[in-house]
Amino acid sequence: MRWLGLGAVLLAAGCGPTPAAEYGEELFRDAALSESQYNSFSCATCHATTATPPAGKVYVGLSLHNVASRPHWFGGYETRLLDAVNFCYTAFMRGVTPLTPEDPKSRALYEYLVSISPEAQAPAQPFTLVKNISDVPRGSASEGERVYEAACQDCHGEPHTGKGRLTELASILPEVANDYGTIFPGVPAGLVFIEKVRHGRFFGVGGNMPPYSQEALSDQELGALLEFLDL
Ligand code: HEC
Ligand code: HEC
Repeated sequence: MRWLGLGAVLLAAGCGPTPAAEYGEELFRDAALSESQYNSFSCATCHATTATPPAGKVYVGLSLHNVASRPHWFGGYETRLLDAVNFCYTAFMRGVTPLTPEDPKSRALYEYLVSISPEAQAPAQPFTLVKNISDVPRGSASEGERVYEAACQDCHGEPHTGKGRLTELASILPEVANDYGTIFPGVPAGLVFIEKVRHGRFFGVGGNMPPYSQEALSDQELGALLEFLDL
């Protein structure tokens, strides 16, 4: 469950003016944790830390409230917390060298994750990746607009213009789909779009967008989103 054992305990006992957990929180909210100049995500871009995520926001990752008290992570794929963190760090934040247990930054990050884990034990959280992509029934455009604002807008900015987007690397939606007919001949653009949302960077077009599990975004929400984006 822990990745540090005694080292962390000693560190938590305190040296220097800033307690480790406070430094860890700064790192959690700072995209510069990753050395890559192409990264603009911090942990906080994708994870809430409160028991109930803030209203009007849909995060692609789970809330990390009680994360250090879970028995395993990523639906059982990761059995060490540091490995789970490093998965995000390398896959989504373009981190080149995984964080090591000795690194003062990972120690501080760990102390922060412990500080947002008030229960001694907490259940593992489900994580269901959608393996086989199929079309979804379209929903209401107004619901789709709400989903867009809650889930996509922070990174992608406003629809059609990208105004306010987190990074220029984030595609403009839904216009990016205009090329799908050429890139994926014969496949409906809506289906390509669904594949991207469900598989993120693991879909053939690359990048570092995270995948939306079924828990993060339901097919119903996705169907409404597609209606709103006219796909
Ligand atoms: C670009 C989005 C993104 C970023 C940035 C990101 N994560 Fe994640 N993270 C995810 C997704 C998606 C998952 C899989 C769904 C889930 O379990 O939350 C995940 C899963 C996790 C899990 C496993 C949760 C569980 O109980 O299964 C941990 C722990 C975690 N992230 C920690 C971090 C930390 C710490 C950082 C910063 C170093 C970070 N993540 C950065 C998207 C992200
Ligand atoms: C954490 C930031 C982040 C969030 C949240 C996010 N995206 Fe993305 N998305 C990106 C980035 C960065 C790219 C460009 C790089 C890539 O393809 O991974 C992208 C690319 C895309 C693409 C284009 C892929 C291509 O090249 O054809 C689509 C479609 C897309 N996102 C849809 C969505 C939708 C829909 C949502 C909300 C449900 C969403 N994204 C949420 C960061 C994000």
